[in-house]
Amino acid sequence: MSLAPPWRSLISRALHHNRSLVYSRYLQLATVKKNGRPANRTVVFRGFWGETNQLKIITDSRSQKFTEIQQKSWGEICWYFPKTREQFRLCGEIILVDSNYSELEFQTARKSMWQEISDNARIQFAWAAPGEKRARMEAFSPALPDIIEPLDNFCLLLFDPEQVDHLQLRGEPQNRWLYTKDEAGRWKVLEVNP
Ligand SMILES: Cc1cc2nc3c(=O)[nH]c(=O)nc-3n(C[C@H](O)[C@H](O)[C@H](O)COP(=O)(O)O)c2cc1C
Repeated sequence: MSLAPPWRSLISRALHHNRSLVYSRYLQLATVKKNGRPANRTVVFRGFWGETNQLKIITDSRSQKFTEIQQKSWGEICWYFPKTREQFRLCGEIILVDSNYSELEFQTARKSMWQEISDNARIQFAWAAPGEKRARMEAFSPALPDIIEPLDNFCLLLFDPEQVDHLQLRGEPQNRWLYTKDEAGRWKVLEVNP
């Protein structure tokens, strides 16, 4: 079994020290649209997928980002932890696990994620389609969806980091490290100027 990369424990530590701030689990995910322009949005970090270093995020396959991100594409996460005053920028590949994704292991992860989230989070997937002209109020009070079987538009987004840039504001001067994965999948760290 390969060792967890060093940045994994740094993120876990940051989450722990910032646990009193509910928004420390919110991060910004940037992607590139088909026309070459950037798109950026806040999403909730839902943990790492099993033993992997992939971050779990949930999203709706009817949303705009779905037309930007093909089943696999690149993105960047920017994540700031206010209490410990540190920023992580993760560059990596995005894997969109929608209802048509063929690999069973990934479908199982998608289903487990659906079962783990709250009713409140689940019901939003039964709302009128995001980004479309505002629907009537009735479209926002659907029946509670099944808690076992995900709705078709429920999607698990996995983010697989290839580079992690960690900036710590604490310190004079500040501290910054770059973690990169080589072709053999080994992580290297380089301390750089802030
Ligand atoms: C605090 C916060 C948390 C959010 N969490 C998510 C999330 O986990 N998944 C998601 O798809 N959108 C989430 N959103 C909404 C997105 O920021 C965005 O508005 C929506 O996904 C549509 O983006 P798109 O048009 O780029 O697809 C969240 C917004 C906020 C303010």
